[in-house]
Amino acid sequence: MVPKETKATLDKLVALCKRKGFIFPSAEIYGGVNGIYDTGPLGVLLKRNIKTFWLNSLKNKLGKVVEIDGALIGPRAMWEASGHIENFHDPMIDCLNCKKRFRVDDDNIDINKPCPSCGKKEWTEIRQFNMMFKTNLGATADQATEAYLRPETAQAVFVNFKNVMSTSRVKIPFGIAQIGKSFRNEITPKQFLFRMREFEQMELEWFCKEEDARNHFDCWINKRMDFYKSLGLDQSRMRLRPHEANELAHYSTICTDVEYHFPFGWKELEGIAHRGCFDLSQHMKYSKKDLSVYDEETKESFIPNVVESSVGVDRLFLTILFDSYDEDEADGEIRTVLRFNPKIAPIKAAVLPLSKKLSPQAEKLFEAIEQAGIETDFDESGSIGKRYRRQDEIGTPFCITYDFESDQDNSVTIRDRDSMKQERISIDKVIPYLQNILK
Ligand code: GAP
Repeated sequence: MVPKETKATLDKLVALCKRKGFIFPSAEIYGGVNGIYDTGPLGVLLKRNIKTFWLNSLKNKLGKVVEIDGALIGPRAMWEASGHIENFHDPMIDCLNCKKRFRVDDDNIDINKPCPSCGKKEWTEIRQFNMMFKTNLGATADQATEAYLRPETAQAVFVNFKNVMSTSRVKIPFGIAQIGKSFRNEITPKQFLFRMREFEQMELEWFCKEEDARNHFDCWINKRMDFYKSLGLDQSRMRLRPHEANELAHYSTICTDVEYHFPFGWKELEGIAHRGCFDLSQHMKYSKKDLSVYDEETKESFIPNVVESSVGVDRLFLTILFDSYDEDEADGEIRTVLRFNPKIAPIKAAVLPLSKKLSPQAEKLFEAIEQAGIETDFDESGSIGKRYRRQDEIGTPFCITYDFESDQDNSVTIRDRDSMKQERISIDKVIPYLQNILK
């Protein structure tokens, strides 16, 4: 079933992100770089909240989760072991006439049909293109110094598996989480933050015994869906899609994608993979270091299995924008509103003095809210209606108006972004009111 139409389009979101300071094209004054973006002030706040929400969601009854922050560059040997040098390819094809390049499996290219760009049918052979960015460490350029920017954060977890086990007093089952940049030389970066060349991932590698792995895989699928539910994403736009055998990545034995229905169709938001003991076994083989775990009960060593949950911060950011974008009517005009879950909204509240004469008192309230650790805006310019619209457009859940009665009754008006309803509350209740909703 195709979910209902959304008012969000990619063009509207790209424009809003630029206009409001969420996302900017990278190196824009030099013409920009395809597939690479910079994050503006509001984008930084939103991303930080997404990451915190994700980290908090990893707490579970099965076992502990610890976090690492691995290096972005890894030596060739590491990527040989992980299988990325041999397998991390996408099939590409070029049109000899217009010179456009396509990713065969994703751009729906049929080599028996003409080029969708120029209409001529002059294709090259399909070639495999390795998506890793290669570099050399130091002054000499030979295979020994060859290194690659990581295409996934996961490998830093596997190569540090023993370091973490011996220093963190964790026991199987447990998880290692990591948030960090990954780099892929995508053939056709597209759809804004959906497919980028530099992006951030949030990955959890869950280490368990082989006999428990299938059960843990199912548990993590449920937990991940709960995460999206609590984030507030429209569940009718979400589904799980198990991979067919021929689409599995080289490391996984079972994989299920969490998909979201974007305006450009059902697409992967997150991958949940049963990686078996592939990664640890490969690193044991190539590094000749023992990465097995001793089981006190059976008195035997074993190589743990891994269940992985992997989602792109930027792809989730885009999903949240699509999901929360809305247009309705306010005061006879179309208003644009981002209906973010208040917990992830970049700005939680805005203090708006009705007149500049009231600014000193309103500023005191603003400072008190900021001191309480709640990201707050202060806006004294323009009509109150315009100021509401500005906050709606960046998804601020609450506008607090300090008006002429506030000095007398020690109260302010709180306006709810979604319902636009207003209620009067005493100033000393403002912080507990916000804290209660944001906890
Ligand atoms: N460690 C497993 C792994 O990297 P993946 O399916 O290739 O698996 C996981 O990537 C997630 O990373 C995707 O579901 C997506 O959210 C995000 N992702 C992957 N490639 C991306 C790209 N080029 N741009 C933005 N996000 C990307």
